This record gives sequence, structure tokens and C-alpha cells, in this order.
Amino acid sequence: MNRTALRPLIFAMSFIAMALLGSSLQAQTAQDSAHLKDWWKNAVIYEIYPRSFQDTNNDGIGDLNGITAHLDYLKELGIDAIWIAPCYPSPLADFGYDISDYENIAPEYGTLADFDRLVAEAKKRNIRIMMDMVMNHTSDQHKWFLESKSSKTNPYRDWYVWRDGKGETATSQGEPPNNWLSEFGHSAWQWDPTTRQYYYHKFYIQQPDLNWDNPKVHEAFKNIMRFWYKHGVAGFRFDAITTLFEDPTLADEDYVRDKDGNIIINAAGDKQTDGKKTEFLPQVDDVMQEMRAASDAYPSNKFPGTHLFVGETYVPNIAALAKLYGTPQKPEFQLPMDTQIGLETHKLDAAIFRKKITEAENDLNGNPPLIVFDNHDNPRLDARFGDGVHDNDIQRVISTLLFTTRGAALFYYGDEIGMKTTPPTRKEDVKDPVGILMWPKYKGRDGERTPMQWDDSKNAGFSNATPWLPVPANYTTINAKAEEADPNSLFHWYQKLIALKKTNDAVANGENIMLDVNNPGVLSWERKSATGVVVVVCNMTADAQTVDLSAAGNSAPKTLLKAHAADPQSLSKIELGPYGVYIGQL
Ligand code: GLC
Ligand code: CA
Repeated sequence: MNRTALRPLIFAMSFIAMALLGSSLQAQTAQDSAHLKDWWKNAVIYEIYPRSFQDTNNDGIGDLNGITAHLDYLKELGIDAIWIAPCYPSPLADFGYDISDYENIAPEYGTLADFDRLVAEAKKRNIRIMMDMVMNHTSDQHKWFLESKSSKTNPYRDWYVWRDGKGETATSQGEPPNNWLSEFGHSAWQWDPTTRQYYYHKFYIQQPDLNWDNPKVHEAFKNIMRFWYKHGVAGFRFDAITTLFEDPTLADEDYVRDKDGNIIINAAGDKQTDGKKTEFLPQVDDVMQEMRAASDAYPSNKFPGTHLFVGETYVPNIAALAKLYGTPQKPEFQLPMDTQIGLETHKLDAAIFRKKITEAENDLNGNPPLIVFDNHDNPRLDARFGDGVHDNDIQRVISTLLFTTRGAALFYYGDEIGMKTTPPTRKEDVKDPVGILMWPKYKGRDGERTPMQWDDSKNAGFSNATPWLPVPANYTTINAKAEEADPNSLFHWYQKLIALKKTNDAVANGENIMLDVNNPGVLSWERKSATGVVVVVCNMTADAQTVDLSAAGNSAPKTLLKAHAADPQSLSKIELGPYGVYIGQL
């Protein structure tokens, strides 16, 4: 045969090859797009407090290059995304939550080029970067506020919440407009002598609230969001989002009373108000719908909803949480934090967890909950759930709830190695202003912000200089290097749980059904998908326990992961030691 005769055959063969390649590419693209679109549904998100993660330029303060330096560690742990607490320029009245420039990186944390490198290096490892989005307030040093306070006729005046005092005269400032309180103590109103009015601040005096009735404020934040999308971020964690609006009538809030009817005095010595005029106003939903629409329309958001909105949403009940997802037509957050399960619960109580996890399963309209037990505002897990004896075992139980109940999971740097809350012992050492004001009733948040414990060298490998907060003395035994080397460490427990969440279809996607629902000490549930069933059993007591889950079936489970538990012969007899955990495939 000559070459010409072969031609049609070669043509046909290459056509078939191309068609095959094309269809496999198409399948691949469909898979990729599902992965891209829904990446957050079963995501594992890691919160980094940048000041305390890793110092690379020897000033005692963590920085962005320090995060980049540890991406392989985070990859090894198995996370999908990092949320970085604010790393923008800030006078640090609230350690970064008072932002003076939303479109830059604070010099002590690095540069925008460092940020871009972090995003690029993270991407190589399939890790997404999320920024903190503080929309309720700015720093009092932000140019908008400096303009706003300069005169009553300044174009930025109505970017903030200014009001006259009560009974003001030419010589006296009068009283604050009402009884509203700052979260950080005392009146939420601050007198400003230049224009003789008060401004409102839900948080520190140095954090004036923005006026969200002003459309220009909305546009400003959409631009900020777009700025960070251009720098490759995957989404945002919206700070203090429930406090965006205040009741325009400025009516007093009611006081909170104890069961005898006496007004509760809080740690700052103020009569505690109920927050009804300053939190959860319905306009918050409107703003989030508007922000979400702007985010979804951004070009890099190839599939609506790929860019992730996480909300700091301390909600009173599951109905309030359900509302924050919005509707399919008007979505708000993909993942408003479920603070009910892990942050409002302060003891290891099977009945409470059973109730709250069941609510998250049934009452969120099928949306995934974002489970979270720890962050930079709350004492670490040891202080809220530990007993001082079984802390690591208790943390195995907590992390099992975190990673094997249905939903996305958020945890805080250092949890994976069992870092412990280490509050200051002397008032003069306190860095968080609220801890100074409320000392000793409340010591502030320094205790949960201590440097990451990397190894047993000086300053736990965090910095060669004196760290901004002292390194806890336990770093010689509690540190990442030691735990990576020990197959039975908490670090490896976290790693295995995350791997299970990512690779086992039932754990990734299955329904969450409670078992043995009257057991007061042991929480058991199953995860059930089309491809399989996984049972999870957590002993929440310091006593050995035996449970009978035969109602769920009579096969012998295959052990996937366990701690202080035997390999059961059947579901009718699962034996657990104190705080034991058993996870098995049916
Ligand atoms: C959020 C932050 C907290 C901060 C406050 C004011 O609650 O998590 O750290 O102090 O908002 O921005
Ligand atoms: Ca540094």
C-alpha cells in the first residue's frame, strides 16, 4: 500500500482518537467544574492568626512569608483553604480588626508581592486563600473616618453613624444618645469634640461603625472585594456581620435579667443590654445578597458560588442560621458558621451535641453546616472541653465531631497539635485591651493567640526574636515536629480524620443519622450514602462504655479509625475506653 491509500485510514484513526480524547476531556472538565463549583461543601478550612504563625524576618511577629514557608505542613495535614485573620495595615487597637487600608498588606506582615506569592504557592498545593472582610467598622485612622470627623459637611460625614448627644448645650456634650453598649465595654457612643457629636462603635472606640444606609459604603466594599479577587483569593470570612445595622429610632435596648429579675452586670461593670436594636437587623440579609451577587458576577467566579462567603455568625438558634444562607434565587453565605454546635456549647455533653447536630442536619434546608469549635476569640479547646487529665483524648472526640459529621469544617492553627490556652498571669502583660479593661474577670484573648509551637528549639521555632506574646512553656513536648514523628499523635489523628472526610464517600456526602438516641454518655451516628454506611461512636465520659448499635444492622464493621476502642465483632457490642472513639465501615 502506498501512502496515499493509507491516508483515509490514518484520517479515520486520528478522528477516532481525537473524539475519544475530546470526550475524556469533556468528562474531565465536567468533573473539574463540579469540583470547582462545590469545593466548599465538604471543605476543611484552617484559620491562621498571622501574627502568631511564623516569623521569618526576626521581629517577633509572624508574617505572610511564614505562612508560605509552612504550606507543605498544611498540605500534609490535608486542608483545602486558609482563612487569614486581618493582615491589612492597622494601628492594632484590635490587632488588625481595625483596618486603616483595605487594599494593602501591613508592613510587619509583608507586601502585596508576598501575598501574591503565598496565593501562587498555595495554589500549587491545591490550597485556597481567604481574606477576612471587616465591613461593620474601620479603624479611626482610616482616611474615610479622618475625613468624616473633620466637619459635618464633609462628603464622608455620612459614611459613619454620627448623632447628637442627649441634652447637649454649648458648654456640655450631654449624654450619649442611648444605652447601647460596646462589645468591649461601656457606652457604644464616643464624643468627638471637633464637630460636637457622638459616633457609634459596636467594638473598640478606635473602630467606628460604618453607616450601611449609605449606598457609597456598599460600592466601596464591592470594590475592595474585587481588588482581592484580582489577587486570587477564593473568598472571604465576613467579620461581625450581624452587627452592620442599628435601629434608626435609636430606642434604648432592654436590659438582660437573671432568673430573679435582677439586671445582669457584665465583666466591664455595665448593665448588660440585649442587643435587639444593634444586631441581626433584617437589612443584613439584603446587604449580603447584594455582596454575593457582586461576587458571583466577578469574572474569575466561573461557576456561580465558587467564591466562598463564610460568615462570623453567632446566632441564637438554628432558624436564624438557616436564614443566613439566603435562598437559591437570593443566596447570601454558602457557609455561615454554625456557632451553636461548637462555640456555644461548653461541655462534652452527648445530649446537647445530639440535639444541635440533628438540627443542623434537618433544619438548614439541605445546606451544609460549617462546623467550628475554636477561633481567635475563644479560649482553646482544652479550656472549654478538657478536664486537665484526658485533654488529648477529649480533643480526639471533638475533632471526630468536627470532621465526620456532615458539612464543612473550620479549625484554628495549633488545634491539630493540642495547643493549650495560656492566658497572661499579670495584668501588665496583657496585650488585648479588653483583657486590661475587664481584668481579672476576663483576661482577654491573648491566651488563645500565642505563637504556633513548631519544634522544641528556642521560642518553639516561631521566631529568633522575642515573640510578641510569650510561647507557652509546654512547647518542648507539644510541638508540630514531635507530633509529626509520632504516629499516635493528635496531629496524625487530625490528618487521618481529614483524609477520611476527603476519601470516604459516606463521610464526605452521606446523610447524618443519630443512633442510640437515649444514651446520655455516648454519641453515636451513621453517615449513609448510596455507596456505603459508616458508623461513628464517641464516648463523652471518663468511664468505659459499651454500646449496642444493632438497630443499625448486624454486620461486623470494618474499622476505619479508632482510639481507646476494641475492634467489634458486631454492632451489638462496641466497647470504648474513657473518651474512646470508634469509626467503622458497614
Ligand atoms: C470579630 C473578630 C474579633 C474582633 C471583632 C471586631 O468578632 O473575630 O476578633 O475583635 O470582630 O472586629
Ligand atoms: Ca515578622
